[in-house]
Amino acid sequence: FSAFLTDSFGRQHSYLRISLTEKCNLRCQYCMPEEGVSLSPKDQLLSTSELIRITRLFISEGIDKVRLTGGEPMVRKDLANIIEAIAKQGVNQIGLTTNGLLLKQRLADLQLAGLSHLNVSLDTLIPPKFELITRRRGWERVLQGIDVALALGYSPVKINCVVMRGRNDDELLDFVEFTRLKDVDVRFIEYMPFDGNKWVGKKMVSYSEMLNIITKEHPNLVKISDKPNDTSKAYKVPGHVGQIGFITSMSDNFCGSCNRLRLTADGNLKVCLFGASEVSLRDFIRKGCSDAELLEIIGAAVGRKKGQHAGMLNLAKLKNRPMILIGKELYPE
Ligand code: GTP
Ligand code: 5AD
Ligand code: SF4
Repeated sequence: FSAFLTDSFGRQHSYLRISLTEKCNLRCQYCMPEEGVSLSPKDQLLSTSELIRITRLFISEGIDKVRLTGGEPMVRKDLANIIEAIAKQGVNQIGLTTNGLLLKQRLADLQLAGLSHLNVSLDTLIPPKFELITRRRGWERVLQGIDVALALGYSPVKINCVVMRGRNDDELLDFVEFTRLKDVDVRFIEYMPFDGNKWVGKKMVSYSEMLNIITKEHPNLVKISDKPNDTSKAYKVPGHVGQIGFITSMSDNFCGSCNRLRLTADGNLKVCLFGASEVSLRDFIRKGCSDAELLEIIGAAVGRKKGQHAGMLNLAKLKNRPMILIGKELYPE
């Protein structure tokens, strides 16, 4: 495996998450501050050709899974072209994490371009609550989008549900019910602090608390095996078509098996979701660096990656970015 993508703890990074835009057509509370975020001027964002060059370099060093995120990646008009270009570079998996609003219209084209995996954010099964959480309408469209994805053969469609106390923690059992007939993997995510999202510890519902609530109703819940490097701990209710999982970044981090690197829309390599240290690959490219020089820069950044994040109590104090500017969805068209 590439020495450039191996860190000082021996973790080999084979998964690149690329944020394609800072914009989003929703305004989820947990992802962005109420007042919004200031978007980078266009010339500071990576151009498509810069993006494709960086991706090629990573893939040549052993990245075998690319996930496209945002903001909301589906607001990019050239998304199918980007997927096609990355697919040609010979990567095993190309995934997309989306809020699902535009799936119905666009997924078939993305599939043709080479999109292999799909994760959709959905935090509530109650339409008016969707509006409260996302500050926009669109619940029905997301649900239709999930069904379109299932019909196109995505198996499973992963559903990301960020659980917040007093908001949607009363819906855990309904989400489990959602897996009865659909080939979905509902992942309950512990609410994490990012700049501007007003995180407080008491709003976070921990893995153990969620598991308790669910096993009371489903005592026959079974633990199933997790794939290597999975973010989630997988379970299944016997007889249900789908499964559930828990993403426990806060109460039980999975940093020890982390294989992820991130590229922000403005061209920064971010070696840890919670790491403030970033290096601008864009600036080095625009200074005329060769691929070999870029690899040295990437290798040095990976080499500085910490063993694990700062811990639950410290993360809220850390200067980072709002999630929308790291790799999720959000902001104006
Ligand atoms: P797969 O590629 O299907 O495994 O998806 P994923 O779970 O890695 O990514 P997705 O974009 O669906 O993100 C779901 C959740 O995973 C996010 O809300 C985060 O909570 C968590 N997550 C993703 N990447 C990281 C990471 O690098 N570190 C930590 N701590 N959590 C992450
Ligand atoms: N805490 C946990 N997960 C979050 N996401 C966005 N913001 C947060 C947060 N504060 C999740 C969304 C999206 C995924 C990439 O990140 O569910 O699907
Ligand atoms: Fe990897 Fe950092 Fe996420 Fe831990 S917090 S899993 S080290 S990216």
